[in-house]
Amino acid sequence: MVIGNPIAHSKSPQIHQQFAKQTGLDIRYARQYCPDDKASFTAVVEAFFNGGGVGANVTVPFKQFAYQMCAEQGGLSAHAQVAGAVNTLLLKDGKLFGDNTDGQGLVNHLRQLGWPLQGAKVAILGAGGASRGVVLPLIEAGISELTIANRTLSKAEDLIDQLCSAHPLIATIAPTSCTIEALTGQYDLIINATSIGLSGDTLPLSEALRCGYAYDMMYGRELPFLTHFHAHSAQVSEGYGMLIGQAALSFTQWTGKAVDSNLFI
Ligand code: ATR
Repeated sequence: MVIGNPIAHSKSPQIHQQFAKQTGLDIRYARQYCPDDKASFTAVVEAFFNGGGVGANVTVPFKQFAYQMCAEQGGLSAHAQVAGAVNTLLLKDGKLFGDNTDGQGLVNHLRQLGWPLQGAKVAILGAGGASRGVVLPLIEAGISELTIANRTLSKAEDLIDQLCSAHPLIATIAPTSCTIEALTGQYDLIINATSIGLSGDTLPLSEALRCGYAYDMMYGRELPFLTHFHAHSAQVSEGYGMLIGQAALSFTQWTGKAVDSNLFI
């Protein structure tokens, strides 16, 4: 199941059914609405696993609750620990275990697109949960420079401090921060991890900012961020492939079966 609020429009059930078809498994995967409080979330998760559930995805606004629940009752993967958020739940040795496959799902989609990550100079826009979840997987994939640009500079600075103390690999590339307006020059890859697509505002991108590749973690609507860089000859992609990528990694953890996410894109 996938637990969220709202949840009615989640595409996860169709995606997991496609994976089940590919691997010849018979699965049930449903959307699960939950009231937005920790007690309700805990009750839903416990009922699911006590009832024989194998694995669950967690989406907005419950990823932090899921993280807390796993920290209290069971275990967390390194990616979930650094992200401070869990999108994949399973049982390990009878205990609740939380992983976060969002960042690796992004990296897998970037590789599928053929975009080079080794030695890349990268900027991430936004310093919230979406941004926090992708930093470690990008660094593990070999990027060599990282700037986090955020409307509120202090949040980008705090995020970098937290990430550097959460994992030694992150400190090795010494990420830097700035405001979005102050981000200028040439980057290999720029990733939009802000929630701006939901608000109708546009990002104050500098005319002196360029990149070879631009990725928006949002999907399913016209994204001014991508239009901006497309007009400057960058290759661009929205985040639907990341959604498939994170789902594929969850599916494999639950079933032990590898899936081909190329079939979707
Ligand atoms: P998420 O979990 O999706 O990352 P979040 O933690 O609320 O959500 O973070 C939202 C991010 O989008 C933040 O970096 C936020 O910038 P601030 O830290 O300055 O609030 C950014 N964001 C949201 N609306 C924005 C806007 N209109 N312009 C620029 N940045 C925006």
